[in-house]
Amino acid sequence: MPPRRPSVGGRLTAIASTDQPPWSDIAAWYDDLLVAGSGPHATALECLGRLVPDVRELDVVDVACGQGLAARLLADRGARVVAVDSSAAMIAHARQHGSPGETPIEYVVDDAEALTQLDDARFDGATCQLGLMDIANLDGARRAIARVLRPAGWLAFVIAHPCFLAPDAQFADGPDGRPAVTVTDYFHERFWRSTKPQGVRRAGNHHRMLSTYLNALTTAGFATQLPLYAAVPIFFAARAAARHVVGT
Ligand SMILES: C[S@@+](CC[C@H](N)C(=O)[O-])C[C@H]1O[C@@H](n2cnc3c(N)ncnc32)[C@H](O)[C@@H]1O
Repeated sequence: MPPRRPSVGGRLTAIASTDQPPWSDIAAWYDDLLVAGSGPHATALECLGRLVPDVRELDVVDVACGQGLAARLLADRGARVVAVDSSAAMIAHARQHGSPGETPIEYVVDDAEALTQLDDARFDGATCQLGLMDIANLDGARRAIARVLRPAGWLAFVIAHPCFLAPDAQFADGPDGRPAVTVTDYFHERFWRSTKPQGVRRAGNHHRMLSTYLNALTTAGFATQLPLYAAVPIFFAARAAARHVVGT
């Protein structure tokens, strides 16, 4: 029997009301959180950093940029970055952090669902870190992103995993003492907010199935080659890192 770990009990409670803070109201809190150092955000940034190709001299748009965490990574790697967020307060915080690269990051207040301020085919690539689940109209966003990308442009995104960070998910010890999560009503796509006073998701989240995200991308023309392959996916691809377990 493995040793019991400390309980990880907890709950992501969904509430239906809209009287919780939108992103602009918690922009200062969010900026403080990231400046202090947030483990989940560091992990997301590392994932995004691995997903993007060499961005030197590329034009990249960072969608739903928040206080600019991912935008600064891209600029630091030599990209010319335009970073977009619908919250003017978030953009104000982002500007305060400056730009690490040669070309200053251009910050724009715009809605990802249309990206009205960005020209067609302006970018080699797009990134969206922890943003797609906050955008209400996923269809609009995927069309807007596809429009501003050049042919062969790419999109790299990181989302909160919808199979686990779902409304009403309950964290608890599994039968063998390992951390586990119980998810109910996964197939019910809906808007929800966390009731945790310090929860990032108190600003609201759109719970969508993983398949909804992947289907949205393929119908936007991402990753399709032949008409048949647009209708019937023939490959499943993943990138895995070797895990070296010490002491076994
Ligand atoms: C969890 S934060 C992520 C911010 C940043 N990408 C990061 O990794 O820290 C989600 C961001 O999405 C933005 N957002 C939500 N809906 C949006 C929309 N329709 N258009 C643009 N930004 C949006 C919010 O203002 C917020 O800054």
